[in-house]
Amino acid sequence: MKLSSEERAMLDGTHSKAVQKAMEILNTLGTIYGAEKMIPVVSVQIAGVSYANLGEAGLQFLSEMADGGGKARVLTTLNPAGMDIENWQALGIDPEFAANQERVIDAFARMGVVTTCSCTPYLFGNVPHFGEHIAWAESSAVCYANSVLGARTNREGGPSALAAALTGRTPAYGFHLHESRAPKVTVVVEADVNENHEFGALGKAIGQKLEAGGKKAVPYIQGVSNASVENLKSFCASIATYGGTALFHMPGITPEAERYAPPPESFSISQAEVEAALDEMNDAEESEVDFVSLGCPHLSIKEIARIAELLEGKQVKKEFWITTARPTKHISDRMGYTAVIEASGAKFATDTCCVVAPISGRFNALATDSAKACYYAYAKNKFKTRLLPFDEVVGEALR
Ligand code: F3S
Repeated sequence: MKLSSEERAMLDGTHSKAVQKAMEILNTLGTIYGAEKMIPVVSVQIAGVSYANLGEAGLQFLSEMADGGGKARVLTTLNPAGMDIENWQALGIDPEFAANQERVIDAFARMGVVTTCSCTPYLFGNVPHFGEHIAWAESSAVCYANSVLGARTNREGGPSALAAALTGRTPAYGFHLHESRAPKVTVVVEADVNENHEFGALGKAIGQKLEAGGKKAVPYIQGVSNASVENLKSFCASIATYGGTALFHMPGITPEAERYAPPPESFSISQAEVEAALDEMNDAEESEVDFVSLGCPHLSIKEIARIAELLEGKQVKKEFWITTARPTKHISDRMGYTAVIEASGAKFATDTCCVVAPISGRFNALATDSAKACYYAYAKNKFKTRLLPFDEVVGEALR
């Protein structure tokens, strides 16, 4: 790889031990993927924040980077942690786990990382614009950044995202290059999708068909005429989970979609296929549901307002987690939504989510509007699932 004099100095250890290690990681990655050079990034999102995923080895790596003088050079935010940093006791988190999670957050804070702990950084200030190069981890956010915002990122891992934060660089390969972003297959959506859970089912149906085709081809998706931010975050999370998709083009949504003609290779997604995907994520009986969660990906303030409206003056009968980012929770506090929601017995699980929190074995069946949450509820925690419209998920908590 061709490095600039500053990048060469980083690699030689002129800056700090942490920067040297970071540049070594990026240089190795770039060499593996055939990058010719490094490019500057304007934003980083780091995943792998839960102590449950990092363990002691991961925490030690972070501590060494912090002790070695690592400092974020660009705006850097964090993915959800394993607990609500301020309210973990209410969620039944083990004190030993909490202490270790706090050590993880502390290591990131020492490196100047904004410890917002959310998978939707684009809802509160980490919002790259069209064409900007970024280095994001977290598959749903990567897909959203590439496909909805039109920024350019590969799907980073935790260490490579941290390395990008500490150097302000990433190797120029993959979705940073114009030629890699061209769509390869047209997907014609013949189904009517309106709500988050339907967008999630659509993401599953498309993702699985792409996977079955044996390729991670960038899809050009036709037939979706209308989609809100909330619909799109659900869709991005789902197609990334079930298809490994990091970029799609959707005319009318994706800023650069108009640059391309629909590729000749194509497949369609019928109403029946979306309904089959919905059915597959509904294996729990209503009576089996003992855990309800909304906020995968993390909730927007508009969604929290709706929950407050639905819960006003009522009492929930099941464990109900409202998962969102701390800045969004602050708006909720200011608007009085938090008071209404907490008076109902529902709990804010800020900074975390029902997937990364260590809750394996605590529940039998999850009700949610998120296809991604269904996937991990089963794969990680062995919960059955009910995938429902947003309002009905709230209704499930009240039953
Ligand atoms: Fe976000 Fe957790 Fe879902 S990280 S996308 S809420 S699995």
